[in-house]
Amino acid sequence: MQPLLQLKGIDKAFPGVKALSGAALSVYPGKVMALVGENGAGKSTMMKVLTGIYQKDAGSQYFLGKEVVFNGPKDSQEAGIGIIHQELNLIPQLTIAENIFLGREFVNRFGRIDWKRMYAEADRLLARLNLRYSSHRLVGELSIGDQQMVEIAKVLSFESKVIIMDEPTDALTDTETASLFKVINELKAEGRGIVYISHRLKEIFEICDDVTVFRDGQFIAERPVSELQEDSLIEMMVGRKLEEQYPRLDLPRGEKRLDVSHLSGPGVEDVSFTLYRGEILGVAGLVGAGRSEVMKILYGAAPRKAGTVSLDGRDVVTHSPQDGLANGIVYISEDRKRDGLVLGMSVKENMSLTALRYFSRADGSLKQVDERQAVGDFI
Ligand SMILES: Nc1ncnc2c1ncn2[C@@H]1O[C@H](COP(=O)(O)OP(=O)(O)OP(=O)(O)O)[C@@H](O)[C@H]1O
Ligand SMILES: [Mg+2]
Repeated sequence: MQPLLQLKGIDKAFPGVKALSGAALSVYPGKVMALVGENGAGKSTMMKVLTGIYQKDAGSQYFLGKEVVFNGPKDSQEAGIGIIHQELNLIPQLTIAENIFLGREFVNRFGRIDWKRMYAEADRLLARLNLRYSSHRLVGELSIGDQQMVEIAKVLSFESKVIIMDEPTDALTDTETASLFKVINELKAEGRGIVYISHRLKEIFEICDDVTVFRDGQFIAERPVSELQEDSLIEMMVGRKLEEQYPRLDLPRGEKRLDVSHLSGPGVEDVSFTLYRGEILGVAGLVGAGRSEVMKILYGAAPRKAGTVSLDGRDVVTHSPQDGLANGIVYISEDRKRDGLVLGMSVKENMSLTALRYFSRADGSLKQVDERQAVGDFI
């Protein structure tokens, strides 16, 4: 079968890192090509080269049988390649419809934006994804999962021939993932080619036809999914034979560490649970069920209205994230770009930001050598 899109011998280096070296990828009409590899294998870089966000150092790219060079994302978009990036790229202060049609708003015969048509089109896209809210809503008010669904709606609106999905289900629940898979099947039936990047191997076996494996920026193999087992796929990804993936640990249950009882606060009503030493406690629920809210109350990032929290037998009250940290409770936020990181600051500054007390002298100046040392150790 002739590929819709093909890349060969792609090299791309960043200062100090060879992100891609001789990488290759083919996308076929009506098929879903999985792209897998460990963290840092070069998957997202390949997608950015493919869409013209990065310029390749070497290699060639063919689209619909012709060699192409995209000088920027607008080029690839106009040629018929759509992408859902791994990171959200929406503008929180705009509505869903404004985000979807940003830069290509419908214009009526008076040269004005045709808002009615824009919102109607956007609502139609949301309905296709089984989303029950209006496209008039502000993106900033949506959960991360819903924002991801808006990204998907946006890429659908381009009617692209090739659609790239870089970790689309990271923030989605099972129900939302099912809606996405239904749409992927429709796109396949329309003859579009899809690149599907995911760390969830179950999804690869469920929705993908073929799989391309990258390791350390190199092309390792392209195989039909039907010929592979999960173990053999992981072996190609990591480059060695696998022993037991999740070895069983038969440890006795440790003592009680965290006891949460009758917790209430914004979006949370009467939640109780217990966490034991050495335990990982899963908290499940649909989008909007209040999972993040419970954790934010525990950490002190949201107010507690009622209930008690005890840690190692002593009562803990957290009015602020500082209280949470002081009590040994940390929270890794869901929306890391918005809540977790200061994007304008360096890696070093971000890492030490919540621990500055360890690096401060009495006069408030910073022990820079200590800071650098500690950050270096963590990296
Ligand atoms: N803009 C950049 N500047 C410098 N190095 C980069 C840049 N983007 C990516 N890299 C490096 O290139 C390598 C490949 O990264 P890439 O993000 O493509 O991996 P990935 O396969 O998408 O990983 P993940 O599964 O974690 O998303 C990594 O070593 C990464 O640190
Ligand atoms: Mg990536």
